[in-house]
Amino acid sequence: MKILLTGGLGYIGSHTAVQALKDNYEVIIVDNLSNSKEEVVNKIRQITGKDVKFYKIDVCDKQKLELVFDENPDIFAVIHFAGFKAVGESVEKPLMYYQNNLISTINLLELMKKNGIVNFIFSSSATVYAPSKIMPLEESFPLEASNPYGRTKLFNEFILKDFQSANPEFNITLLRYFNPIGADDSGIIGEDPNGIPNNLMPYICKVAIGEFDHLDIFGNDYNTKDGTGVRDYIHVVDLATGHIKALKQIESNKNNGLKIYNLGTGKGYSVLDIVNTFNKVNGDLVKYEFTQRRAGDIDIYYASPKKAEKELGFKTEKTLEEMCKSSYNYVIKNK
Ligand code: WQD
Repeated sequence: MKILLTGGLGYIGSHTAVQALKDNYEVIIVDNLSNSKEEVVNKIRQITGKDVKFYKIDVCDKQKLELVFDENPDIFAVIHFAGFKAVGESVEKPLMYYQNNLISTINLLELMKKNGIVNFIFSSSATVYAPSKIMPLEESFPLEASNPYGRTKLFNEFILKDFQSANPEFNITLLRYFNPIGADDSGIIGEDPNGIPNNLMPYICKVAIGEFDHLDIFGNDYNTKDGTGVRDYIHVVDLATGHIKALKQIESNKNNGLKIYNLGTGKGYSVLDIVNTFNKVNGDLVKYEFTQRRAGDIDIYYASPKKAEKELGFKTEKTLEEMCKSSYNYVIKNK
């Protein structure tokens, strides 16, 4: 079974490529290297001992993208990871985000329809949920995005819902990620953001290897058990497995239609939980200071994983200790 992964050299894409290859899928990757490195192709081959076809193409370049479909008419499904994802940058450059994150999806859908490829899995995000006092978040909860990045995810969901209504032969699954962290046990691939990391775990890792002096914890006056923000951290390998489960559901249900699933653990951990666990499993490496809240952050959110568990047979397996250990293992092996 051949699948196409856009953004397949990125953090989540590359881990999904590894899991798919291990599960005997044939994997094609399209990536423009805007936030990834070509060396990841060989790293994926190294981990799996299998080949993967790579095209250095921007999914917004429809003409070049068409080549991929011409050369691979037997693609079973497309998993669409490619997209810009920095919240702060999206506020400064909204048109760049709308252009890139929406045109890429529209190009894919048009070329898939033209080539009779009807199975599509979309990398969505918990960021599409409206602020909610009720936790855990369920797929039926109200949607509202608070920044251009989040709105591109939300608008993509609307585009995909409208497209699937107009083209019922399409099977489209929206996977809403919570907070992916961790790395493949090999330490060969992992989270490797350009520049100063926005997200918690990659920043912690930079402190642990001495690139930064300490972690600033953005606010300790939230309405949570220890005052620091609570999130649903999911191991990236569990997240990748969730995509394989979504593929299997499409394979087994001819008319799967449009499905929406949270991919999270159902457990919330605070920033201090993460720092303390990281220091416990890796050695006391991370000092921290409390600073002001970061604009746009909210107290607490975590997933209800029940629907994915029931309908996809998806259940996370990795522990917070494994997430912290594997994150550090990756940076140590690649510094
Ligand atoms: C987690 C917690 C921060 C950095 C973001 C995106 C979201 C999704 C996941 C793509 C919060 C605290 C962080 C730091 C800190 N991405 N923190 N010091 O904000 O929950 O979600 O990534 O879909 O769209 O918004 O993740 O890792 O940035 O923050 O104290 O240096 O860590 O306040 O409580 P977030 P995060």
